[in-house]
Amino acid sequence: MSLLEITGLTQRFGGLQALSNFSFRMEERELVGLIGPNGAGKTTVFNIVSGFYKATEGTIVFDGRRINGLKPHRVTAMGMARTFQNIRLWNDLTVLDNIRLARYAWLGYGFWSAVLRTKRYRQAEKAVETKACDVLEMMELAEYAGEFPKNLPYGLQRRVELARALAGNPRLLLLDEPAAGLNSADVEGLIRHIRWIYDEFKISIWMIEHQMKVVMSLCQRLAVIDFGCTIAEGTPEEIRRNPEVIRAYLGDGAL
Ligand SMILES: Nc1ncnc2c1ncn2[C@@H]1O[C@H](COP(=O)(O)OP(=O)(O)OP(=O)(O)O)[C@@H](O)[C@H]1O
Ligand SMILES: [Mg+2]
Repeated sequence: MSLLEITGLTQRFGGLQALSNFSFRMEERELVGLIGPNGAGKTTVFNIVSGFYKATEGTIVFDGRRINGLKPHRVTAMGMARTFQNIRLWNDLTVLDNIRLARYAWLGYGFWSAVLRTKRYRQAEKAVETKACDVLEMMELAEYAGEFPKNLPYGLQRRVELARALAGNPRLLLLDEPAAGLNSADVEGLIRHIRWIYDEFKISIWMIEHQMKVVMSLCQRLAVIDFGCTIAEGTPEEIRRNPEVIRAYLGDGAL
């Protein structure tokens, strides 16, 4: 049984067809990429898979269960976490609280039980505290625990977002352009962190990314979409040489 099986996904926004019959299968412990030009439909795929959009057509099976139409928090509870193309952190909470809150959400505690500190919540508190500190430590963020994300450099904000996604113990991590806006030193750090997460947590990772260096050095397999349709699938090397991909996306400079 595959970890994730997407079949015939179609998404229309009014008159715009953002995805046409997109299918993709991912096995446990894979680290794979989704690439393609701007507006190709990549984020739409992630938005549907993680429960933010409801597909016009198609099915998504995660861990043997059909997840079409499930709300994002239900999908998260099943073991899928994601990051966003435009960072979405709680800017008025500290880095540590961002991680804590994500952990509580995953444990099924609502925002209000966190605010009102219910009994059940208080019992979970210590375990959450330990786990949140572990995640920060592992992501080399411990020294920023008390900072507010908006005051941190962009590269660190990206890393906090990654840490927050990990706080929910995912089996599948979806990363939407993790390298967007990073300088080259930060990109090196990001590659190192993703590789480390993959090895350490023994999870599966699916990433959207425009920076070919990141995709080519991390991914075992890539799918390429253009105008909502898959135009190629293969190893990074196969994709790099694929004439259709070069024409639609990479350009002659990639050769
Ligand atoms: N909620 C929405 N309502 C209307 N149109 C949308 C919506 N979300 C996405 N689209 C459109 O669907 C198409 C695919 O968008 P999507 O964000 O999936 O592209 P992408 O491949 O992630 O591009 P990029 O590389 O620029 O992030 C675009 O034409 C976009 O404008
Ligand atoms: Mg996108």
